[in-house]
Amino acid sequence: MTGENPRRSQAWFGGADKTGFFHRSGIKAMGVPDRMFDGRPVIGICNTWSQLAPCNAHLRDLAEYVARGVYEAGGLPLEFPVTSLGETLMRPSTMMYRNLVSMDVEETIRANPLDGVVLLAGCDKTTPAVLMGAASVDLPSIVLSGGPTLTGRRDGVQLPSGTGTYEMYDRVRAGTMTSEQFVGAEVCMWRSNGSCNTMGTASTMASMVETMGVALTGNAAIPAVDARRRSLAHDTGLRAVEMVHEDLRLSKVLTRQALENAIRVNAAIGGSTNAVVHLLAIAGRAGSELRLDDFDELAAGVPLLVDLVPSGKFLMEEFFDAGGVPVVINELRDFLHLDAPTVTGRTLGENVAGMTGWGSPAIRTVDDPLQEDAGIAVLHGNLAPDGAIIKPSAATKELLVHRGPAVVFEDIDDLRARIDDPELDVHADSVLVLKGAGPKGYPGMPEMGNLPIPAKLLRAGVTDMVRVSDARMSGTAFGAVVLHVAPESAAGGPLALVQDGDLIELDVPARRLHLAVDDAELTRRRAARGAEKLPEIGGYTQLYLRHVTQADTGADLDFLRGKRGSDVPRASH
Ligand code: FES
Ligand code: MG
Repeated sequence: MTGENPRRSQAWFGGADKTGFFHRSGIKAMGVPDRMFDGRPVIGICNTWSQLAPCNAHLRDLAEYVARGVYEAGGLPLEFPVTSLGETLMRPSTMMYRNLVSMDVEETIRANPLDGVVLLAGCDKTTPAVLMGAASVDLPSIVLSGGPTLTGRRDGVQLPSGTGTYEMYDRVRAGTMTSEQFVGAEVCMWRSNGSCNTMGTASTMASMVETMGVALTGNAAIPAVDARRRSLAHDTGLRAVEMVHEDLRLSKVLTRQALENAIRVNAAIGGSTNAVVHLLAIAGRAGSELRLDDFDELAAGVPLLVDLVPSGKFLMEEFFDAGGVPVVINELRDFLHLDAPTVTGRTLGENVAGMTGWGSPAIRTVDDPLQEDAGIAVLHGNLAPDGAIIKPSAATKELLVHRGPAVVFEDIDDLRARIDDPELDVHADSVLVLKGAGPKGYPGMPEMGNLPIPAKLLRAGVTDMVRVSDARMSGTAFGAVVLHVAPESAAGGPLALVQDGDLIELDVPARRLHLAVDDAELTRRRAARGAEKLPEIGGYTQLYLRHVTQADTGADLDFLRGKRGSDVPRASH
């Protein structure tokens, strides 16, 4: 770096030699005038725009507004694409690629003349992916979410993204909805660009970044296509430049305090179970010690305030009208670290001061909550030695304490082949068990933990059952679903040893998940089963299989944990 101007980008643009020539001339070829290399902050606009991630398809448009804000504040914006993650299309699971994208983000930021970065994300995994990558570099960084799609409707009936699909498909399988009606609902559910309009993973993670102070106030709920989303983008770009001047690095905001706030607000909004693996992974990058049990302990006593699908009845547009995350933070103030620093340069409490609701039923008060004790319950027991989770607010209350015989599916193919078999020995009190759907097993820990209710039980009026797996579930899903069992079956966890008819005991108030089979029998079964084998298939999947950690530590790649900083690499010419 030059002596007079310590700006990182000046290591590229400040030199009078041939290297400086190459760097500047490349940018000038895009029409950038010479004065732009005078040492002003260079802001990367990291964009997960892609037509393969339709929820993020409008981020290309939003990036223009970010650039306006950067120019207004006297910076130079340079937009760059990173691999995107489209929940609706990607197989076998976007989760398998979250860590890959985080590497793309991290390496691209570090390898280029950037002083600060705006991270554009929307669809579920894109938010943790960009934040994980940026945290490992630790420049001044700010997130802009894409915002939710508009409320979907058909025949006057609201169609919640994701959740409505599960509900309608159960009706098709129960014979109360035709296939034509089902297909006809497709275009009604996602009416515009933007992420799911439910409190699914995308809305949850957008709320988490706002709560953690790494995005501007109001970021989570403004609809994707609302004019205010564009002005927020403009303000985000402007703020990125100021953050460089203030040397307000991500690590100053993304602290243990911020993570604790996130866990508590996640409980109050009825947020996705996926926030658990993502926040654990983000904490791992930021060097913050966060344990799975923190999700249960820190959210103890936090009430459910937000009445949104899948835990309640409204959608993101109503949440926006009700004031969104700032109103929740104000209402929850006694539970939060309001002195936590944020990207605005002010504290979390200062950001939301005076932003109270107008009495909308979508956001309840602490005195009149939707539910007394919300949050995610972390279960332990011989079936999940390293833990498992359940979201009680999305489950049928009567099933939270339950004992029933296991109906075991060895993998997803086995499940698909037999779940609707009229001969399947399954009853309303059975416990459906799915193996082989964890980080290594599937691979990629897909959102298949909300196993379908067998068709014959649906027709008999059964709407919920206890289900246990090492999978995740969509943030838009619901039910008495035990997820993220660790260690997973493919990593030799006891889940691998469960057999049909074994009694499984779920006791959510006692935080217990127990397999009522004695140790000697489990030892015998383990010996008979032998060591779990993972396939040798090369490519990224191989790297992932060798290095992915279990769900209780965030399912990151082990070698990506921590921060590698923003030192300027040696020159390329
Ligand atoms: Fe993209 Fe839900 S599918 S946010
Ligand atoms: Mg989702």
